[in-house]
Amino acid sequence: MCCLVRIGTAESRIVFCWDGSGTTASRAPEWIIMLILGIETSCDETAAAVVEDGKHILSDVISSQIAVHMPYGGVVPELASRKHVEMILPVIDEALTKADVTRDQLDAIAVTQGPGLVGALLVGLCAAKAMAFALDKPLIAVNHLEGHMHAAFLGSQAPAGPFVCLVVSGGHTALYRIDPGGRTKFLGSTRDDAAGEAFDKVAKLLNLGYPGGTVIDKLAAEGNPNTFQFPKAYLEKDSLDFSFSGIKTAVANFLRHYGPPASESHAVSYRLEDLAASFQEAIVDVLVNKTIMAAHLCGVQDIAVVGGVSANQRLRRRLQEEAGYRGLTLHLPALRYCTDNAVMIAAAAYTVWKRTGFTRDMMDLDAVSRWF
Ligand code: KG4
Ligand code: ZN
Repeated sequence: MCCLVRIGTAESRIVFCWDGSGTTASRAPEWIIMLILGIETSCDETAAAVVEDGKHILSDVISSQIAVHMPYGGVVPELASRKHVEMILPVIDEALTKADVTRDQLDAIAVTQGPGLVGALLVGLCAAKAMAFALDKPLIAVNHLEGHMHAAFLGSQAPAGPFVCLVVSGGHTALYRIDPGGRTKFLGSTRDDAAGEAFDKVAKLLNLGYPGGTVIDKLAAEGNPNTFQFPKAYLEKDSLDFSFSGIKTAVANFLRHYGPPASESHAVSYRLEDLAASFQEAIVDVLVNKTIMAAHLCGVQDIAVVGGVSANQRLRRRLQEEAGYRGLTLHLPALRYCTDNAVMIAAAAYTVWKRTGFTRDMMDLDAVSRWF
C-alpha cells in the first residue's frame, strides 16, 4: 500500500521536522537503513539523488537548464516544464545507476511538493507518484525550503539547541527559529523581492546574463564595495522582515544617471566591478545584520544560512567573521548544496520519515506553488 508523508499543510507555514525527535506512535525504529530516492523539479534544475539514512550520498545528479533560459535573462516557466519532462527519466535512471541501486531496493521516493513553479513541480510529482505506485513504495512529499535547511547539516547533526535559519534564494528570503523536535517559528521574510531575485534583476539591468548571482559574485570579487552607497532597507526597529526592491530601483536610477560602465559619453566613468561590489555589499550587510539580530533576539547560539544566495563568497566570509566575533556557531551548506539539488530533498524526507512514519494515502498529492 502506498503512503504519503506531508510536511505541514499547503495552507500553513512549514512544520519542520528535525532529528527524529517526534513522539508519534508510528515513529520509525532507529535501526532500519533507509534508501531514499529524492526528486527535485521546483524551478530550473532537474535533479535526482539516492541518499542512505539522510546522510550518506550515493548519487547526486543535476541537469541544469541554464542554457535554455539564458537567452531570456530569466526562467521561462513553460520552457522549464518542457525541459523537466525531457530530462526527468534520464536523470532518475542516472541517479540509480550511479548509486548502484535498483528500483526495488529503494525504501521510499521523496519529491518536492512546493513551493515553486506549478508546471515544473508537477513533472517531478507525476514521476514520483508513478514510481511509488508501480513499485508499491511509500511517497514522501517535501517542502523545498525545508530541503534547503537540511543542506546545512548534510554530514553533520543539526544543533542540539534551537537555531536561527536564514533561507535566502531566488524565490525566498525568510528567517525562522527552529527548536529541537522541529517546532518552527516564522520570524520574518521579504516584503517584496527575494535577495536572489535582486541579484538576478540587477544582472539583467547590467546585461550580465542569467543566473545573475554567480556573475555578480565573481565581478564583485575584483571591485571595491565602498565605491557607491546603495540603500539598505532595515525597516522598523527590530524588524526581521526584508525589502530588496528599492536597491534594484536604485541601481536602475544609477544607470540612467551615469550610463553604462566606462562610458565615454558620460562625464563620470566607473568600473563595473565596483558597481557590482557596492550593490552586493548592500544586500550582504542586510542579510548578515538581520540574521545576527535574529540570533540575538531569540537568544540562540547557532545560525544556519541556506539557499542559492548562501553560495555567495562575500556573504559566506562576512557571516564567518561576524559569527566568529560574537561566538556564534555558523552552519553553511557545501557550495554544491546551496543551490537546488535532490540530495537535500532526500535528506529532509528521511527526517520526516523518522519523525512521523508513513501515515497517509498518496494519490491526492498536488503541487503547491506558494508554501511558506
Ligand atoms: O536555491 P536556488 O537554486 O533556487 C531557488 O530556490 O530559488 O537559488 C537560486 C538563486 C538565484 O537567484 C541565483 O542568482 C542565486 O540563487 N545565486 C547567487 C549565487 N549563486 C546563486 N546569488 C549570489 N551569489 C551567488 N554566488
Ligand atoms: Zn531552491
